[in-house]
Amino acid sequence: MSNPTRTNDAANDSWWRSAVIYQVYIRSFADGDGDGTGDIAGLRSRLQYLAYLGVDAIWINPWYPSPLADGGYDVSDFRDIHPAYGTLEDARKLLAEAHQLGLRVILDIVPNHVSDQHAWFQQALAAPPGSPERERFVFRDGRGEGGSLPPNDWYAAFGGSTWTRTPDGQWYLHLFAPEQPDLNWDNAGVRAEFESILRFWFDLGVDGFRIDVAHGMAKDPALPDLGLTEFSVIAGEGQEGHPHWDRDDVHDIFRSWRVIADSYPDPRVFVAEAHVRPGRLADYLRPDQLHTAFNFDFLKCALEADKLREVIDRTITDLAKVGAPATWVLSNHDEARHVTRYGRAHTGVTTPMRDQGHSTDLALGTRRARAAALLMLALPVGAYIYQGEELGLYEVEDLPESVLQDPTWERSGHTVRGRDGCRVPLPWTGDTPPFGFGTFVSAAPWLPQPDAWKSYTAEANQADRTSMLQLYRSALRLRRTNPGLRGEEFRWLDSPPGTLLFERGTGLLCAVNLSDQPIPLPDASSPLIASGPLGKDGVLPPDTTVLLHWD
Ligand code: NOJ
Repeated sequence: MSNPTRTNDAANDSWWRSAVIYQVYIRSFADGDGDGTGDIAGLRSRLQYLAYLGVDAIWINPWYPSPLADGGYDVSDFRDIHPAYGTLEDARKLLAEAHQLGLRVILDIVPNHVSDQHAWFQQALAAPPGSPERERFVFRDGRGEGGSLPPNDWYAAFGGSTWTRTPDGQWYLHLFAPEQPDLNWDNAGVRAEFESILRFWFDLGVDGFRIDVAHGMAKDPALPDLGLTEFSVIAGEGQEGHPHWDRDDVHDIFRSWRVIADSYPDPRVFVAEAHVRPGRLADYLRPDQLHTAFNFDFLKCALEADKLREVIDRTITDLAKVGAPATWVLSNHDEARHVTRYGRAHTGVTTPMRDQGHSTDLALGTRRARAAALLMLALPVGAYIYQGEELGLYEVEDLPESVLQDPTWERSGHTVRGRDGCRVPLPWTGDTPPFGFGTFVSAAPWLPQPDAWKSYTAEANQADRTSMLQLYRSALRLRRTNPGLRGEEFRWLDSPPGTLLFERGTGLLCAVNLSDQPIPLPDASSPLIASGPLGKDGVLPPDTTVLLHWD
C-alpha cells in the first residue's frame, strides 16, 4: 500500500488534483547496470534528484516484458518486468523508496493492444477461425477474391493498413504496428483480465495508471470503411461517429475500472491518454470514470497569446463542468521536444507524430521554452514534465538512420524518422558521452547522445544559477509554498495584444510576453521569479514570463 510521507495541501485522497508528475521514459532515464539501457536500478539511484526537483509523482512508461517493437507499447506479459529493466523485486524496492521520499508512482497500462508475442495472441494464431482464442482479438475474413484484400480501408497510426493477414488467410486488426494486435473489448475475458492486472499492480502499491490509447479501445463491430487517406488517420481522431476513436461504449470500461481504484483505502488514480475533439475530454473525467487526462490541446498549441488563451479557457471551462482538474503538458515521448518546436517559425504541432525537417533556432526555442515552463507551472492545477525538459534538452534531429528504432521509420518507407529524437538517454554528469547515463563504465547508450549535451547535464545545470533546472526547481518550490498557486483560483486581467496576464488567488500575477515588444509590468508589483532577465526599467522583454507579487 502506498504511504507517501509528503502530501500536498489537498486532502490525501486528492493529491492528484494539483500534482506535478514527472514522466520517466525508463529506457532512457538512467542505466544502473551499464548495458546502455535505462532500468529500475538507475531510476532508484536518481530518486533523490526527482525529490529535490520538487515533483509529486512519477509516471513510468511501460516496463513490462516486450519485444520493444514499439518501445514497450507492445506488451507480452502485463504482470512482470522486462529483464533489461530489472525484476518485480526491483519494482517493489522502487515503490518503497519513492514512497519514502513522498513520490507517488504511476505506471502505464496498454489495454488497446498486446504484443504479437503475448501468449493470448500466439494461442489465437494457433486456434481456428471463430475460436474463443480469436474472439479476444479482432479477426475477420478478407474481401475480394479468396479474401485477399483487407476487411476494410483503415490505416494504421504508423503507416500502412490496420490489417495483417495470418497464414490461414484470416486478417487481424492493429491500429498501430502489426506487432500490436488490437484486443476485442466486447469480450468478457479481456475485460476480466485487465481488471485483474490493475489489481495486481495496485496490490503491489502502485498509485495509478496512465491509460494508453484510452480513446481507441471500443470499436464499431461492423468495422465500416472510413474513406480516409493514409495521412488523415490521426485527424480522424476528431471525427464524429468514428468507428474506432472516442466511441461512447468506451466509458463503460472506465466505470468498472474506477470501482476498482476506489476500492483501495488510499484510492488509486487514472490518467487518460485520449486524443479527442474539443469538448469530449470531459466525458472521460466524469466523477465515475477517470481522474485526469493529458491536455494535448495545450501541448500542440502554437506559442501565441490568443491561441493559448483560447486553449486555457476551454480547458478550464470544459473540465469544470465535471469537476475535473486541468492539467498542462509541453512535451512527452511522442512529440518533438518543445525547445526545438518553439525555435521554429511555426511553434505548434501540426502533423501527426512530428514536424520534421523545419529549421530551428535553439537559443530562441530555449528562451521560449523557459517562458512556457513558467506559464505551465503557474496555471491551475496539474502539470506533466517530460524527463530532460528540466535540463533544457532539445530534439536530436540528426540521429544516424542506422540507429532509428521507432516503427514509424520502417512503416513509412523511410520517410518519417519518428520519435527517437526525443527519447535519447539523459545526460547526467561529465564532458563526454555517456554523460553518466550508466552509473559505472558502461556500454554505449541505446541511442547516441550529442557531444553538445555536455552543457546540458544535470551537473552543468546544477552549477549554473540561471539554468533551466534551477528555473524548474524554483518554480516548483513556489508552487508548494505560495497559497495562490496551490489553489484552483484563476482570473484573466487585461493586457496588450500578444501577451497574457492572469491572477492566481489574491495578489499573485503571471505575465507572459509573446509579442515582439517589451511591455510594462503592472504598477505596484514585485517579481518573484522570471523565465529570463527583466528590463532595467521594469519592463517584460519578449518571450519572457514573470510571476509577480501584486499589492
Ligand atoms: C501512445 C504512446 O504514447 C505511444 O508511444 C505508442 O506508440 C502508442 N500509444 C501505441 O501504444
